Amino acid sequence: MTGGDAGEIVYLDHNATTPVAPEVLEAMLPYLRTAYGNPSSDHPIGRHARAAVEGAREQVAALLGASPDEIIFTSGGTESSNLAIFGTAATAPPGRRRIITSSVEHPATVSPCERLEANGWAVTRVPVTRAGLLELTSATAALTQDVALCTMLLAQNETGALLPLDDLAREAHEAGAIVHADGAQAIGKIPVSVEDLGVDLLSVAGHKCYAPKGIGALYVRRGAPLAPFLVGAGQERGLRPGTENVAGIVGLGAACELARSRLARDSARIGVHRHELLTALLAAVPGLVCHTPLDASLPNTLFVSFPGVRGTDLLARAPGVAASTGSACHSGEETPSATLIAMGVAPEVALSAVRLSLGRDTTGDEIALAADLLAAAYHQAREERSASEKSKRGEESR
Ligand SMILES: Cc1ncc(COP(=O)(O)O)c(C=O)c1O
Repeated sequence: MTGGDAGEIVYLDHNATTPVAPEVLEAMLPYLRTAYGNPSSDHPIGRHARAAVEGAREQVAALLGASPDEIIFTSGGTESSNLAIFGTAATAPPGRRRIITSSVEHPATVSPCERLEANGWAVTRVPVTRAGLLELTSATAALTQDVALCTMLLAQNETGALLPLDDLAREAHEAGAIVHADGAQAIGKIPVSVEDLGVDLLSVAGHKCYAPKGIGALYVRRGAPLAPFLVGAGQERGLRPGTENVAGIVGLGAACELARSRLARDSARIGVHRHELLTALLAAVPGLVCHTPLDASLPNTLFVSFPGVRGTDLLARAPGVAASTGSACHSGEETPSATLIAMGVAPEVALSAVRLSLGRDTTGDEIALAADLLAAAYHQAREERSASEKSKRGEESR
């Protein structure tokens, strides 16, 4: 339960952002108070900051099964994926001007791919099944000799679906392509090993794994060709120049260390709570549609449609639950989740979707309360709708 100005609210929006873990905040505070050195300064105060940055690099590398020298700190998931995509494109040989991606990517990948497309690159968007899973055979068929980069989510932010990047990476390498994984939603929720996956690049977003917003990292396999798109004083091996966000970096390191020590325990408990939530909603909401492939997904994510009720309307009637819909609002018009549309879900069903994403502090009591609040909101919305339809029919027959 979260308090603050908004009052008591069950927070089920951990895929949007997580709270900063107390241990992370504690680790950061000295670097916001007294340890203010610039890591590039050659005196004890600067060297203290440098040691903190390098310690955090080791912690991030340990969570990913990487070497510390393969970790580049950035401002977050978006910057990491931009660096991976533009940085690889800038070094690709002239005969390789194609990118393979999926049809359900986050805008952090969609937009760089669109920009390259506008500059003459070809982009192949591999479809997903109705269950939200990647069509692997279409992906491997697309791996032709002109592919420079294969860039895909490890875990989809709305459905929580896991994409089979390990299988794909092997085949992509055989075709001579570089492989980038957007790990923003996966890191800290499921075990991720860059060795097991066999990827060359992997994006990390701090605020999805209990570190603050505005800090992230890119794993860059030793020897992977990558050009910076920012130029400056040469920090982060020249790949991401600019004075380091020392406190943020320390926070990301602490968050990764924490995830390493408790991820297995947390994800088992979170999976049980997700099951409880789904069970309660299925019992209370006739025709509830589950868009999350439960057997191949993040354990914390449940993307469900409440039939006949808009997701935005449902959440407006349940202010005690903080969650997201997949839809976006453009010029006053609601557009359904692009992910659900790519999965072949009908627009009306997609507009009734709500994403419920649990966190490590979500309790069983909160799950029970959230299910009650959502069910009550659903029934209220349905009743109001049928009352207004009845009165409309009455007016028409008069
Ligand atoms: C899958 C995925 N990739 C990238 C990002 C962007 O990360 P950031 O917010 O740190 O820029 C997000 C954030 O929602 C995400 O869910």
